[in-house]
Amino acid sequence: MRVLSGIQPSGRPHLGNYFSMMKRMLEYQSSSDLFCFVASYHAMTSVDAADELSKNIAGVVLDFLALGMDPNKSTFWVQSDVPEVTELTWILSMQMTVSQLELAHSFKDKTAQGIVPSAGLFYYPVLMAADILAFHSNKVPVGKDQKQHLEFTRDIARRFNHQYGEILTMPEADISDDVATVPGIDGRKMSKSYKNTIDFFAPEKELKKQISSIVTDSKGVDESKEAAGPLFEIFSLFLNHGEKEELADRFRTPGTGYGHIKGDLQKKVLDHFADARQKRQQLEKDMAMVYDILAEGAKKARAVAAPLLDQIRSTVGLKY
Ligand code: ADP
Ligand code: TRP
Repeated sequence: MRVLSGIQPSGRPHLGNYFSMMKRMLEYQSSSDLFCFVASYHAMTSVDAADELSKNIAGVVLDFLALGMDPNKSTFWVQSDVPEVTELTWILSMQMTVSQLELAHSFKDKTAQGIVPSAGLFYYPVLMAADILAFHSNKVPVGKDQKQHLEFTRDIARRFNHQYGEILTMPEADISDDVATVPGIDGRKMSKSYKNTIDFFAPEKELKKQISSIVTDSKGVDESKEAAGPLFEIFSLFLNHGEKEELADRFRTPGTGYGHIKGDLQKKVLDHFADARQKRQQLEKDMAMVYDILAEGAKKARAVAAPLLDQIRSTVGLKY
């Protein structure tokens, strides 16, 4: 079974990205044929400074490798190193109507925030469909916010196959209910664009500052607190069922303040990511090796996409 997903280098990855996508992708590494890429073209829809984009791409690559992405067990590449994907995007765009693209939640959310949309932002779901369909993907682990994009991808594949024959593999979204939406430190969805994230690779001081900024109500140490809200939910991501019950008890039983719980969460996060944080620092010193890994990854990805594109070119009549 081929499992594929991508992450945008639109800023620093956060706990929402980690639990809903990165961690699950790494778990699939031992049981599936894992395809994972850094969605550099997608990030262009929100990052226009060239130096920032290239720094973000390298940053996310280092993050994934530090977290345990193993190039010998997976195919790991940067989206823009595989040109077949943009070619397929154009071909697939004939299977999508403007009115369907206008229904995309992510597009509507961005325009509602007052962003004047580029044609690229509007077109984004077709590029995402090409990312998935170019590699015969079966399963796509994503957060809940990507569900509609996966439905569009399936619509595109269905229409294409209806017109040209069974060429594209029908993918399925893989959304984990437990971590479908991780709240940010302000209680809204954790998102790079809201600046409400916990960046688990940030320097210790900054990481602690992010955690101490998690919003709570104003209940004091001697009051019983509700086992809910962003502090409880974020902490729970690191706990098993029994530990989560214990945490709920600590919230409900007077005697523990929010400050204390935040201190424990800081320790938990630093502990959970200790090895990865150390490994990232080492990798940063050997960028030549990292670039080799990416070149090899793009080669492996192209070996899958190129024959499919060749077949598609003849099927749609581009060969003469
Ligand atoms: P962001 O919204 O921060 O820009 P991305 O769009 O790069 O994040 O998302 C990368 C992956 O992480 C996607 O699969 C997305 O669904 C998931 N994701 C992003 N934010 C959250 C969140 N708060 N909770 C759960 N999953 C999330
Ligand atoms: N749109 C996804 C996001 O914002 C990133 C992405 C791009 C993706 N292409 C993909 C995810 C293909 C899964 C499969 O998170």
